[in-house]
Amino acid sequence: MTATASSSPVAKGSLERNQLPPHLNENLLTPRFYTTEFDKAAKTNLDIAREEFEAMFKEMEADYNLTHFDRKASLERLDELSPEDKAVYESYLVRSVVSEFSGFLLFKEISNRFKKSGRKELGQFFQFLARDEARHAGFLGRALKAEGINVDLPNLGNKRAATFFPLSWVLYSLYLSEKIGYWRYILINRHLKENPEKVCAPLFDFFEPWCQDENRHGDCINLMMRCWPGMTKGFRGKLLSRFFLWSVFLTHTLTVCERGDFYGLLGIDPVLFDEEVIKQTNHTTRNAFPWVYKFDDGKFLKMRVEILNAFRNWRESSGLSKPLALGKFISLIIRQFALPMEKTNAVRYG
Ligand SMILES: [Fe+2]
Ligand SMILES: [Fe+2]
Repeated sequence: MTATASSSPVAKGSLERNQLPPHLNENLLTPRFYTTEFDKAAKTNLDIAREEFEAMFKEMEADYNLTHFDRKASLERLDELSPEDKAVYESYLVRSVVSEFSGFLLFKEISNRFKKSGRKELGQFFQFLARDEARHAGFLGRALKAEGINVDLPNLGNKRAATFFPLSWVLYSLYLSEKIGYWRYILINRHLKENPEKVCAPLFDFFEPWCQDENRHGDCINLMMRCWPGMTKGFRGKLLSRFFLWSVFLTHTLTVCERGDFYGLLGIDPVLFDEEVIKQTNHTTRNAFPWVYKFDDGKFLKMRVEILNAFRNWRESSGLSKPLALGKFISLIIRQFALPMEKTNAVRYG
């Protein structure tokens, strides 16, 4: 069965979607797709950051990774894995391909809307971002193919469900997802360089320049935020910073630790990995958001572990103790949300 001939987005051999092994049959197969205030976005005042935009445009146009994602490179796995580890690896690939592809869909849509509104430069700018994400998704699709799994990417796109977010929300969350993506890829890459015996697939050899794409994407989104100074000012700026940092970090903690088996496969401690990713992302975000969480007192990171334990406790509890466990989890995440923040010196125009 080939990717294009398959009636389901993911096909393994001759299996239909509802017969897929559990690790591939996830709700995640439909990428989340966001729509936003495109008319407002078309009014982006680039003149506020003209010089910076020109420089970033040239950097994206230079396409440093043009030849990096070699279509001929073999992505056959290096090691024989146990059936459990093989499932863990394949499940990671599926989640990654869906997330890269949903990035492609969003950037492509933004690019098209800019072009339709006569904002050619911005349309081209977002086309560069879409180009990179399409490459990332294509590469992961090839790694899956090497596992005998065909992902029909265009079909994934057709099944999307759109969620509306105001422009400010899209920019805050996109910035964080690009920067957290950068830190995830680079930290895995550094770990595998120090522990080469843990490299079970050639895919991981491609992570270093790959993460630089994500880093640049974050810088592009930061630039867009600077063109909308109102988004990062006053109470609104503080509330948006707080909400997106908290929700992205909380989601990261829960998902990394729930999928600890993938990190175990690479010899990475998921709790320590999560801590490092969050620390570094919070630090990097000083360049973009007006406020970031204060980590000096160690409270935020410590509370992460308590939240994780409360979450597991809730999942494992039953009967009367279940609502109590849920109450504990909710009170902890609210306390974490309210922890102290510190002002940054992020460059702002206007
Ligand atoms: Fe990407
Ligand atoms: Fe990206």
